Amino acid sequence: MSQIKASIFTGSTEVGKLAEEGQIAVPEISDTQILVKNVAVAANPTDWKHIVVGMGGKKGDVIGCDIAGYVEKVGSKVTNFNKGDAVAATLRGNYVANNGGFAEYTAVEQVLTQKIPNIQEKALSVGDYPPSSIDTFEAAASYSLSLATVGLSFSHNFQFKETDSSNADKYVLVWGGATAAGIFAIQVAKSIYGFKVITTASKKHHDFLKSLGADVTFDYKDANVVEQIRDFGKGKIQYAYDTVSSSQTLQQVYDATEGSENVEIDNLLFLSAKNIKTDEKRDVKFHVTLVYLAGGHDHMGIESTPKLQQDFNRFWQDLVPNHLPKFKTPALKVLKPGYSSTNEALDLLRNNKVSGQKVVFRI
Ligand SMILES: NC(=O)c1ccc[n+]([C@@H]2O[C@H](COP(=O)([O-])OP(=O)(O)OC[C@H]3O[C@@H](n4cnc5c(N)ncnc54)[C@H](OP(=O)(O)O)[C@@H]3O)[C@@H](O)[C@H]2O)c1
Repeated sequence: MSQIKASIFTGSTEVGKLAEEGQIAVPEISDTQILVKNVAVAANPTDWKHIVVGMGGKKGDVIGCDIAGYVEKVGSKVTNFNKGDAVAATLRGNYVANNGGFAEYTAVEQVLTQKIPNIQEKALSVGDYPPSSIDTFEAAASYSLSLATVGLSFSHNFQFKETDSSNADKYVLVWGGATAAGIFAIQVAKSIYGFKVITTASKKHHDFLKSLGADVTFDYKDANVVEQIRDFGKGKIQYAYDTVSSSQTLQQVYDATEGSENVEIDNLLFLSAKNIKTDEKRDVKFHVTLVYLAGGHDHMGIESTPKLQQDFNRFWQDLVPNHLPKFKTPALKVLKPGYSSTNEALDLLRNNKVSGQKVVFRI
């Protein structure tokens, strides 16, 4: 086997034409990497943004950041994984021509990989599925990038400690509870770190988000949603996680946390205080998360520091395995198997047709 199939960027930014089936060499693995034979993959907003918004993706790069499959081969410094293990993993796809998620085989870092015990082999047929436990390859493909993002934000940027009993008196505001990141942020904030959780989402998701651990839900479409949250929070919202990360949502998050002391706000799209109107009397700390740094390498000119890796690895290796069996995925939209589903998946995300769902397909 010298050549394998993969979904690669065509270089076109036209809707429906970002991806085509191509051939690449089997990716080489480094000492710390694992070669995975993929079974199912999931699409993320970053997959289309890399080429359309210009995040470094270019013609010929292999698409995809979330995979689930079987370990085929491990690097010499990989300790915890063996050939044949069922695993889920995330990587920075979409920016090199020799490795990416939507391919027969993918090279991933062991620090961004997890074993999925008791997985069922049977494929889910095409269709829409409610949120589920992580017990199919489709569900396993759906969580790694989102959960790793939340893990990096909470363990490193916010420096949450699961042993801190004062967490139980504090609220974390998750803006965008129905994003894939938000769905995991609610579960992690509640069940790993023991916070109270406030979230915003369309009304149709409120019951589901409460079942995940949200204490209070608000409809972000209400004209006075910010006032509602501020009145409810009454100075107790110390941490706010903006999973939508537009200048509008960052402003809303900033305003909704007014009255709280030592507020820290994290976002996922490189926004800062400069993007919003701030009050000089308030002392708010702004963070930015870039999940790829969790893999142990620098990306986009940002350093993956030893402290970042230590914080993240503790989250991913020590805390997550005990909680994963309880976690629920977003609802799944399963597309037909094969590389031709890539354009459909990317278009659904690009056209904002994804609500509380993850788009997945078999490879
Ligand atoms: N920096 C990083 O490392 C990193 C990592 C992961 C993701 N990201 C970025 O983070 C963002 C979220 O990614 P994702 O995959 O989690 O998103 P997603 O699942 O594709 O988000 C879709 C959801 O966004 C919600 N939404 C849209 N506008 C909203 C608003 N104004 N207020 C509240 N909710 C709103 C919708 O909620 P309703 O259904 O309730 O309307 C919808 O369900 C993307 O921009 C992605 O590129 C960055």
